[in-house]
Amino acid sequence: MTELDVASLVEGDRVHSRVYTDPAIFAREQERLFRRVWLYLCHESQIPAPGDFVQARLAGVPVLAVRQQDRGIKALINRCAHRGAQVCQHESGRALRFRCPYHGWTYAADGRLVGLPLRAGYAPGFALEEHGLKSVPRIAAYRGFVFASLAAEGPGLMEYLGPMSSAIDDMVDRAPAGEVEAAGGVHRHAFAGNWKLQMENLQDYAHPAFAHESSNVAARPDAHAHAELDEEDIMAANKASDLAWMEQAGVTAYPGGHSYIGALPLEQPMPAEAERAYLAALKARHGEARASEILAVQRHVAIVYPTLAFQSAMQQLKVIVPVRVDYTEVYVYCFRLKGAPPEYHRAAVTFVNAANAPASLILSDDLEIYARGQRTMTEAPGWLRFGCGLGRDVADNRGGIKGPGYSELAMRNQFATWSRYLAGPMPRAA
Ligand code: FES
Ligand SMILES: [Fe+2]
Repeated sequence: MTELDVASLVEGDRVHSRVYTDPAIFAREQERLFRRVWLYLCHESQIPAPGDFVQARLAGVPVLAVRQQDRGIKALINRCAHRGAQVCQHESGRALRFRCPYHGWTYAADGRLVGLPLRAGYAPGFALEEHGLKSVPRIAAYRGFVFASLAAEGPGLMEYLGPMSSAIDDMVDRAPAGEVEAAGGVHRHAFAGNWKLQMENLQDYAHPAFAHESSNVAARPDAHAHAELDEEDIMAANKASDLAWMEQAGVTAYPGGHSYIGALPLEQPMPAEAERAYLAALKARHGEARASEILAVQRHVAIVYPTLAFQSAMQQLKVIVPVRVDYTEVYVYCFRLKGAPPEYHRAAVTFVNAANAPASLILSDDLEIYARGQRTMTEAPGWLRFGCGLGRDVADNRGGIKGPGYSELAMRNQFATWSRYLAGPMPRAA
């Protein structure tokens, strides 16, 4: 495919369906986009002790994030230097050594080859140090969230995140002890569609009243008699048909493909005692004014382009893993605000189950839409429109652009960035 071909698939507010369905474009995305950006690797709290590891997949490359003796973290490529077998099969764990299941080549936690069976069969000059596991060239963390880049060069992590480092601040600042930790495991699901469908949907307030209609109808009419925010509350909030709250919530897009949408009109009901204790702890750490400032940040979903989504106020993180052009995995993590009463974590877990679990009515509506869309775009290719909200944009004070919540601004921003990665030179984060 020529560069001109890619450029011709995105024209202002219209995009050709081939960007979702063509395996050659997916291959180009892996090479030009995912291998050049910063991708989420893990949270530091998942691997606290030396030898702790967790698997990740970056641009299709299987990676082990491993805590080192010196407390640093390495991202090792999980491919044996002998004949390419997958060395470690476990999702996570603690290991002194990684031994390949094929012929037993054995690696230390820092990737060095330390065990070579049939050593006598190799030439005397065979150098173990030249046959370790390869490392991902760049790794960097911000407030406990660890990212890696398969590109040896490019913007640093903070430059890459730009104003969207605020998505991490928005979660961590809410912790009275100043830290969060991954807690509650991970929800995993997959859908038979292209990864971009998910990234668009995460910034789409135009769809809930329709795509989630059946879930809305099923929602209890009186949502007042329970103490936790659950699926019914979320669906009831989605049901709002007037545009007022969407106008107010807004969507804000930044260079680099990042964006966020403002909060849904719902509040997390919290037992008064827990709320009092939480506010007292937060104020003790930050003072009254700063605590109010922290809690005033009202966002529903913030996207770190291309494949990461924070629901910071509910301590959720969604990691999207493109597997094939028409198949995508999603991992959803829940975090605990250190120093907050247990009810706060319970609320976050309830939310992850209601909105982000494979059995969630809301989530399954979206997955069905993606799968059907993938099929129809394959069967009947053509142009798609992303024109809603055009001409309504205003400047935001952090160098971004803001539009009403129903605007397709974030998607236009994603595609503008996508085109620059695929067709042009490496874009800068800001
Ligand atoms: S492929 Fe790993 S030891 Fe042979
Ligand atoms: Fe949805």
